[in-house]
Amino acid sequence: VMYSIFPKYLKNKKVLVTAGATREFFDPIRYISNASSGQMGYSLAKIAYTLGADVILVTAPTCLKKPYGVKVIDVVSAEEMYRVVIENLPEADIVIMNAAVADFKPESYSTQKLKKSKENPVVNLKPNPDILKAVGEKRKKDQIIIGFAAESENIIENARGKLKSKNLDYIIANKLDVFSKDTHRGWIIDKNGNITEIPEMDKESSAFFILEKIFKR
Ligand code: CTP
Ligand code: CA
Repeated sequence: VMYSIFPKYLKNKKVLVTAGATREFFDPIRYISNASSGQMGYSLAKIAYTLGADVILVTAPTCLKKPYGVKVIDVVSAEEMYRVVIENLPEADIVIMNAAVADFKPESYSTQKLKKSKENPVVNLKPNPDILKAVGEKRKKDQIIIGFAAESENIIENARGKLKSKNLDYIIANKLDVFSKDTHRGWIIDKNGNITEIPEMDKESSAFFILEKIFKR
């Protein structure tokens, strides 16, 4: 990438990005999670850097390489991500919450590996904190908060509901199928109800499209 030729729309901005799928362990090697690859979040961090921002990427485990120039903080669970995001929130000008946070975690954790037995094991779940909702509650007015919405149906309507209930400035709505693809397609929805369609393209291009649409001056 020819970093230097990018317009510096985000010069002097501190951007906090989250990425990846959190893991909620119930024994030393077993966890529940979801199918997010982290590609979109890493692309957003990388492109934010190329646009001139100071970037912190808070990432759940992924198979991806750390992007150049970005400060990476590794986390595993939603609880851990919650702590790191809230700790870094006051400093941030822009928050982009792309991580696929597990909505539930196991009620208990076994320090020993669960062994095979005749009875089928049961993993009871309890809710995780909603990180973005907490961000929306603690935010300062001049911070820009961007969420994502992964939907299987009523995409725009559901995404608008999340934009409102989590007190966001923008939400990027997409179908669930983006999790398993190298390309992204979706919609940028702002708090005034404006919708911009994001055509299907590779995730770095999509990250550029989104950041340019929101921050071009
Ligand atoms: N999110 C979060 N913490 C959670 C769950 C979600 O911060 N515990 C964030 C996601 O990172 C995303 C936004 O909230 O930016 C919407 O996530 P999504 O899973 O689409 O919506 P939920 O509010 O979790 O509702 P549901 O899964 O029931 O549709
Ligand atoms: Ca969810």
